[in-house]
Formats: sequence, structure tokens, C-alpha cells
Amino acid sequence: MSASASFSYPKTLQIADTSWTMQFASNQVFLGDCHDVLHDWHDCVVDLVYLDPPFNTGRSHSANNGAYKDIWPNLAAYLAFMHVRLQTICRVIKPNGSILLHCDWRTSHHLRIMLDGLLGEENFVNHLIWSYGLGGSSPRRFARKHDDILYYSKSDAYYFDPPMVPATSNRMKGQLKKATDIIEIPALNNMAHERRGYPTQKPVALLELLIKACCPPNSVVLDPMCGSGTTLVAATNLDRKYVGIDINPMAIDLASSRLQEYRQPTSPQLTAYAK
Ligand SMILES: C[S@@+](CC[C@H](N)C(=O)[O-])C[C@H]1O[C@@H](n2cnc3c(N)ncnc32)[C@H](O)[C@@H]1O
Repeated sequence: MSASASFSYPKTLQIADTSWTMQFASNQVFLGDCHDVLHDWHDCVVDLVYLDPPFNTGRSHSANNGAYKDIWPNLAAYLAFMHVRLQTICRVIKPNGSILLHCDWRTSHHLRIMLDGLLGEENFVNHLIWSYGLGGSSPRRFARKHDDILYYSKSDAYYFDPPMVPATSNRMKGQLKKATDIIEIPALNNMAHERRGYPTQKPVALLELLIKACCPPNSVVLDPMCGSGTTLVAATNLDRKYVGIDINPMAIDLASSRLQEYRQPTSPQLTAYAK
């Protein structure tokens, strides 16, 4: 679906200047705080945002090819960090676009209320469960084996192409059915071919399913905290355009080299953004 003719733009949102959008919407990777990078962008220019921020785990995450800090003085400080960035991020989403916010049990309840406030509770679409299988067990509670992905649109005119998955019931064996809000895709194990050694790297299969469902072909996916570039790789595989941002030079190096390996008409442009 292209920009919907039937949708009337809210008065507070500007329609993006097409020439500027065309210029910016080629595949690009930015090094910097997403808040600073997006600050100068026009309103309403991307079709889908996938955001996988630090989860407020209170840890520094490291692996053999990258590290990032996920430590805040308290929950309020984390939520303030998220609020200011989500405000900017939501501003650049087109009126018929949407956002997928990846989080977990620590903050999903706060972030859902935050998105209700920023986008309107009527624009809540799904609370997706990414059921990944690995880890999370404890003798004192049920094993925690899922992340949460909050799906909000900017208006009722959003794009959605329901993903089809193999049916499991005996009655429908061998057929496809529409996917539910529980997505069962294994987390990357240590032997996974696509593993690049970036901490909390997500599987390309998860991003492909989400992008295919929520972003029209040839449109723009923005990942404002792109880490190793999983979203950008998935967007490329699916003929969507991407814009990736990360504050960590190791992440941007890795994402850029990953993108070079994939089928790409042009090399990604890298811009270092200093405020
Ligand atoms: C959970 S990781 C993303 C992992 C990514 N989805 C992948 O598959 O590799 C979170 C990322 O947010 C980045 N980050 C944290 N604060 C940021 C900010 N203010 N602006 C941009 N990136 C930020 C970190 O450097 C880290 O790479």
C-alpha cells in the first residue's frame, strides 16, 4: 500500500517534502545517538520503525565482536531516556506507518503506557510474544523464554500483510495459516551461521517476518538502535530500504560489513553524526 489517498493527515503533522525524502531514503547507516541524528529529520518520512533498545538489565553486555552498556541509575532514568527518544522516533513515522518496540518483562508494561500516550491507545495493534526457547529457567518461577514486541500504528490506515506459517493442528496439517501474536523462532545459538558476535543479536528470520508483515515493499524501515544490523540485512533481503543508527562504533562497523556481504546494489553510506 502506498501513502493512502483516503487518509487525511492530522493537522499537527507535516507531509514530507518528497525530494528530501527521496534523497534521505536510500540505504544509510548513521553513527550517533538516535535522538541527535533524528532531530533534524523532517516529520513523517519512514514507513516502519523496529526499535530494539537496551532493556534496562543493569548489565554491560559484551560478546567477542561488540559491547554496550545497559545500566541506568534507576527505572525513572531509563524511562526518561526512552521517552525522549520515542517522541522523536514517532515524529518521523509516516501517518500510515507503524512501530515495533522490542522489550521484555522488565519494562514492557511501562513502555506500553508510554506508547499509548505518544500514539494513542486506539493505535495499539498487537502485543507480540517472541518465544525463543533458550535460557531463562529458575527453581523459583516459570522459565522466562520470551521477549515482548509492542506493535503500534500511527493511524488506522497502517499497512499489514498477515504472515502465513505452517499449521500445526491435525485438521490443517500440511497447510498454511495466518500467524498468531506468538512468534516461535529460536534465538541464535553459538553455532548459528548468521551469528556475528554482537551481544543480544536478533535472528534475521524474526526481522524478516516482522518487516514483511508491517512494511510495504520498496518502503523505508528505520532501526534507530540497530546494533549488528540485523534489521538492515532483513530489509535488504526483502527489497525494503533501510536507515540504521547506533551510538556504538563497533555496532556500526559490524552492521556495515554485514551489509557489504549481502546482495546490495550500492554500498551503504556511513555518516558519523556529532552534536
Ligand atoms: C539490543 S542492542 C540491538 C541489537 C540488534 N537488534 C541486533 O540484532 O544486533 C541495543 C543497541 O542500542 C544501541 N544504543 C543504545 N543507546 C543508543 C542511542 N541513544 N542511540 C543509538 N543507539 C543506541 C546500543 O549501542 C546497542 O547496539
